[in-house]
Amino acid sequence: MTPPPYRITPAGHHAIRKIQHAQDMEPHRAKRSAPPGPTEQFDIGSAADSLQRMQQYFAQFGDVFRVYAPGRRRDTWVVSNPDAVKRVLVTNHRNYTKGVGMDRVKILLGNGIIVSEGEFWRRQRRMIQPAFHRRVIERFGALIAQCNQQRLELWERKAAQQQSINITAEMSELTLEIVLRSIFGRDLDLMTDAAGDNPFAVVTREPARNLPFAFRFRSLTKHVIEAIQRRRAVPDEHDFDFLGMLMSAVDDDGLPMSERELVDEIMTLIVAGHETTASVLNWAWYLLATHPQAEAALHAELAVAPSTDPSLKATESLAYTSQIVHEALRLYPPVWVVTRRTIEADHLAGYAVPAGTDVFLSPYLIHRHPAHWDDPESFRPERFTAEAEQARHRYAYFPFAAGPRHCVGETFAVFEMVMHLSMAARRFRLHLHPPEAAQQPIEFEALINLRTQRDLHMRLQRR
Ligand code: HEM
Repeated sequence: MTPPPYRITPAGHHAIRKIQHAQDMEPHRAKRSAPPGPTEQFDIGSAADSLQRMQQYFAQFGDVFRVYAPGRRRDTWVVSNPDAVKRVLVTNHRNYTKGVGMDRVKILLGNGIIVSEGEFWRRQRRMIQPAFHRRVIERFGALIAQCNQQRLELWERKAAQQQSINITAEMSELTLEIVLRSIFGRDLDLMTDAAGDNPFAVVTREPARNLPFAFRFRSLTKHVIEAIQRRRAVPDEHDFDFLGMLMSAVDDDGLPMSERELVDEIMTLIVAGHETTASVLNWAWYLLATHPQAEAALHAELAVAPSTDPSLKATESLAYTSQIVHEALRLYPPVWVVTRRTIEADHLAGYAVPAGTDVFLSPYLIHRHPAHWDDPESFRPERFTAEAEQARHRYAYFPFAAGPRHCVGETFAVFEMVMHLSMAARRFRLHLHPPEAAQQPIEFEALINLRTQRDLHMRLQRR
């Protein structure tokens, strides 16, 4: 049942602010002893089965538990409480640095915006953020539509020949194409011509995310440097794209980014912008293939929506398609854990947290927390109607994190994902192949991103 619409009076707003203030202050008053946790030691966050262990401990110990990580010689606290999410990421974010895993990410991304801290991070964020403003993102609509169009033509041919597709690989290739074209524009063709192949294709062809991959990926920086130097030699020749925007951005002193800084930020956008969206779309197709009612509701929405408008506004007006994307993000958030480390001692969920503690906030656990989600394991896109969202804790859902370091690419990502689903579902139904795959439980792999453990294959049915 939807709650009746109501208006909050000024006095009501005042009361809410008082409650919110009291909630923010609450942790300072509560000083329970250390939280429970397993006696075993475990490098949670580094081991391949970290998410499975976190689920197991959550079931055993609840919202706050503590595990000693011998590799880091410190405790990790896993806190599954939306008030704590707000405190760590928003209201008290200054007391936290980025935590576990950053050393490994640094090998991949240098000192790009995902890794950097302090004044340098602030400078870079201020220079990058305008490129992700809605008004700018809007301009990528035609490009995203075109990449989809080309992919769907390939699907047409495969469908005509009764061939199934590897949807996991398809989503990876599509989202890589979109992010690379958005970054490099026509330079992508120059790079591809010069190298005889898209040099960045290794990202989709090589599934491992280990040290050898990191070094291979890092060797691609030479193509970025060449593109920067080419543009510096012949300015103004380029269309609108992220590289162009980042090259012309200046800091508060009027200084542009150095070549090294540009390279790190571009490599960051490639990694951040590709695997995340690919993984959500892969999961979304799986969920649609296993939930025919939701698929029918999607088709019903698309049947009455204008079909050829790739604008941000038209895409956002596809309410149910957007809800599918958010429900896929709820169940399978690619960034399944957000890691931070306390600078000074803090108080979270009633416990005193010592300085230097690794604090893990897991979208995966909180998105399935039974206190915040009704029947959390089931796929129900209606959870994301405006009314349902209003009735929920604001921080019970945070696939893009929150606060000053929230995902800068959120609008771009949602635009891209909704547009893909809407364009593809207008033309095709996707069925798991072989059909028995629908009866088997799906397994995930939670490494850098939350992915399906195996590639999914689908049969295309022309609608
Ligand atoms: C489904 C898609 C995506 C998801 C779920 C996602 C999620 C996230 C999350 C959770 C963070 C914060 C990590 C942390 O603070 O520890 C983040 C940061 C970031 N994301 Fe995304 N992301 C997505 C797509 C994108 C895209 C498409 C781009 C760019 C093209 C992007 C660029 C970034 C950048 C640059 C940061 C670092 C921001 C900062 O630290 O200031 N992301 N993302």
